[in-house]
Amino acid sequence: MLNIAVFVSGRGSNLRAIHEAVERGTLDAKIVLVLSSRDDAPALTWASARGIPTASLQGIAADEVATNIVQHLESAGTDFIALAGYMKRIPEEVVRWYRGRMVNVHPALLPSFGGKGMYGERVHKAVLDAGVRVSGATVHIVDEEYDRGPIVLQRCVPVEENDTPASLAERVLAVEHALLPEALQLFSRGQMEVRDGRVQSTKQR
Ligand code: GRF
Repeated sequence: MLNIAVFVSGRGSNLRAIHEAVERGTLDAKIVLVLSSRDDAPALTWASARGIPTASLQGIAADEVATNIVQHLESAGTDFIALAGYMKRIPEEVVRWYRGRMVNVHPALLPSFGGKGMYGERVHKAVLDAGVRVSGATVHIVDEEYDRGPIVLQRCVPVEENDTPASLAERVLAVEHALLPEALQLFSRGQMEVRDGRVQSTKQR
């Protein structure tokens, strides 16, 4: 059983997918905290309405953000973090503190179409501009580099000829909603760990 903190900045559909997986019993976890970079994130309102503890980092001085995050995480009893549409850089101190215990969901097949500035519709526009036939979703471990940490799970989404960034985003998002809870469940069950810079099954010892 994992005590998960979910970091958000916007609408929070992945947060809802995690919550639904917990309710359904397909994810052995509890959402102990929803932490947002913005006071007005719809995800924060959604979580508060369900009695899930929330916190916002808006207005916190830059040099206090890391300490603030760690304090929130520790007082909520967090043992794993899911970044689900969190738009701010994670301070290195937090990455170190939760090394191997923090994942992010990205709406493309990393290491392609990731990195600084690659978020939202920009990702899907880049995918369509490149003319690739397959896109998808990735869940990866968060380290010091944007979208570069060890990959936990990936799933493909075919690119259709008449796709727009919005239509592709919609199909990728539906896949994200399954993939992120699945990835979290692997950690909850202790079936995955990071070894030698890769995410590996604990059975392969
Ligand atoms: C998702 O597409 C995710 O891949 C990206 O940000 C988006 C968040 O969507 N990192 P939501 O807030 O979970 O609906």
